[in-house]
Amino acid sequence: MGEYEMDKALRILVVEESGTDSMIALKALHSNGYHQMYKRVDTSADLIIALKDGPWDIVIVDVSICQFDEQSVLKMIKESGIDLPCLILSEIIDGERQVRTIKSGVSDCINNQGSMNQFIPSVRIEVHDTLLHNLHKHADKDIRDQKEWFRVTLSSIGDAVITTDIYSTVTFMNPVAEEITGYTEEEAIGKPISHVFRIFNEVNLGPAEIPVDRVIKEGFIIGLANHTGLVTKNGETRSIADSAAPIRNDEGIIIGVVMVFRDITEAKRIEDQMARLDKLNVVGQMAAGIAHEIRNPMTTVRGFIQLLNINNEFKEYSEYFSTMISELDRANSIITGFLSMAKDTVAEVGEENLNRIIGSIAPLVQAEAIMSNKYVKLELGDIPNLILSENDIRQLILNLVRNGLDASTEGGGLTIRTLKVKDKVVLSVQDNGIGIDQQMLKKLGTPFLTTKENGTGLGLFICYQIAEKHGASIEVETGNGTTFSVCFKEMMELAV
Ligand SMILES: Nc1ncnc2c1ncn2[C@@H]1O[C@H](COP(=O)(O)OP(=O)(O)OP(=O)(O)O)[C@@H](O)[C@H]1O
Ligand SMILES: [Mg+2]
Repeated sequence: MGEYEMDKALRILVVEESGTDSMIALKALHSNGYHQMYKRVDTSADLIIALKDGPWDIVIVDVSICQFDEQSVLKMIKESGIDLPCLILSEIIDGERQVRTIKSGVSDCINNQGSMNQFIPSVRIEVHDTLLHNLHKHADKDIRDQKEWFRVTLSSIGDAVITTDIYSTVTFMNPVAEEITGYTEEEAIGKPISHVFRIFNEVNLGPAEIPVDRVIKEGFIIGLANHTGLVTKNGETRSIADSAAPIRNDEGIIIGVVMVFRDITEAKRIEDQMARLDKLNVVGQMAAGIAHEIRNPMTTVRGFIQLLNINNEFKEYSEYFSTMISELDRANSIITGFLSMAKDTVAEVGEENLNRIIGSIAPLVQAEAIMSNKYVKLELGDIPNLILSENDIRQLILNLVRNGLDASTEGGGLTIRTLKVKDKVVLSVQDNGIGIDQQMLKKLGTPFLTTKENGTGLGLFICYQIAEKHGASIEVETGNGTTFSVCFKEMMELAV
C-alpha cells in the first residue's frame, strides 16, 4: 500500500455523497501536477468493498453533507486494517470538532470553504509521509527477515561458526560451535572470542594466534595454522581446522569476522594411524630384505664351521665349534621370527580363542612376574573365537606384558583382560606403572624407539604389525598406569 511514485497516478478513494466538492479537490490536484485515478463511494457498504479493492494512496472524505460522519469513516478504514492517510474536507467542521477529528487519527481536517490552498500541501505531505513510513517498515522487515535467514542458515550448517564484531567480541555462535567448544551461545555472546575459542599449537603446545585481529587488519580470509588444537570448556583438547573471513557491510567496510571450523580429531587420529602403518610396512619390508641378505653369509659361515669341526686337526676346539653353530642357529631363528613379521609372509592361522592362548602362556608370564616381585592377573570374559595366528598373538601378548611389567614398580603388576564390546573382541593389558608421556605416545610403534637401557625398541613395532595383520587396532590410554587395548573385529578375514 501507498507505494506512490510521482510519475504514477495518485490513487484516490473519495467518500462523498454529491461529488461536487471532491471534483474541485481533484482538479486542484491535477493543476498541481498530480496524475490521478479515483473512485467515489457514497455508502458504507461501497466504502468497505472499495477499501478491499485497493490499493489506494489516500482517502478523501467530504463530510460537508453530513450523512457521512467522519468518525464512522475513520473507524471503517481502521477496521479494514489498511494503513491509509485520510483527509477530511469540510465546510462545516470547525474549531473544536476539527481538533477532535485530527486527534482521532485523521491525517488532516481541512475547512475547504472557498479555497484549496491548504489541501494541496496536505495531500503532498500525507502521500510522501506514508510512502516513507512504508519504505522504512519494509526495510526494517527486510533486515529482520535477512537476519533471521542468516541465523537459521548458520545454525543449520554442519561446520562450527562463531562471529565477532571488530573488537573480537562474540556476536553469534551456532550449535556445532557450542558442541565443539563446550560453551553455550548465551555464555559466549559479549565475551572476547579468546574466552571461548582457546587454541594452541599442537606441535610445540604453545598458544596459537586467533586470526580475528589479522583478518580485520588485512581484510582477507585467513586459514588456521596446521596442527591447531582447541581446549574445550571442560579442559579436553580437540584438533580443529579451518578459517576466518571478514564480514563486510554494503559499503565494503569490515564490521566483524566469521570463524568457520571443524573438529578433525577423529580424522587426524585415523591419518596418524595410517601414517604409522605405512611406516611399519616400509620398515617391515626393509627388515625382511636385510634378514634375507644376512642369512646367506651366515649359512656360508655355518657350513665352514661344520667342515672345520669334522677336521681332526681342530678336534680340541670341537666344543667351540658346537657353541658357534648353536649361536648361529639361534641368530637364524631370531631372523626367521622377524621375517614372519614382514607383511607379505604367510603365518599359520586358524580359528582360535584368545582365552586359550592366554591360558597357555600364563605360566610363563606368571613366572616372569614373580621373579621381579610383581603380579599378573587374568580376567577373561566370554568371547567368541577369532581367526588368529597363535604364534603371532603369543608374541603380541608377551611384548605387551613385558612392557607392562617393566613399567611397574615392585609389588605392582598388571591385568590381562578379554571382553566383548559391541562387535569387537578386546584384549587389554592394563598396568599400574609409570605411564607414557605425550611426546612418546605419539611415536609409539616406531622401530628402535626405546627408553630402556637394554631395550631394542622393537616390541611395540612388532605388536602393531601383528595387529595390522589381524585387522585389529591398538588403542592406548595412559595416565596413572597404561592400558593397551587390541580391538579385533569379530570373525574377520585375515589379510595374511
Ligand atoms: N606399558 C608401558 N608403560 C610405560 N611405557 C611403555 C609401556 N609400553 C611401552 N612403553 C614405552 O615405549 C617404549 C617402546 O616399547 P617397545 O616395547 O617397542 O620397546 P622396548 O620395550 O623399549 O624394547 P623391546 O624391544 O625390548 O620391547 C618403551 O621403551 C617404553 O618407554
Ligand atoms: Mg618392549
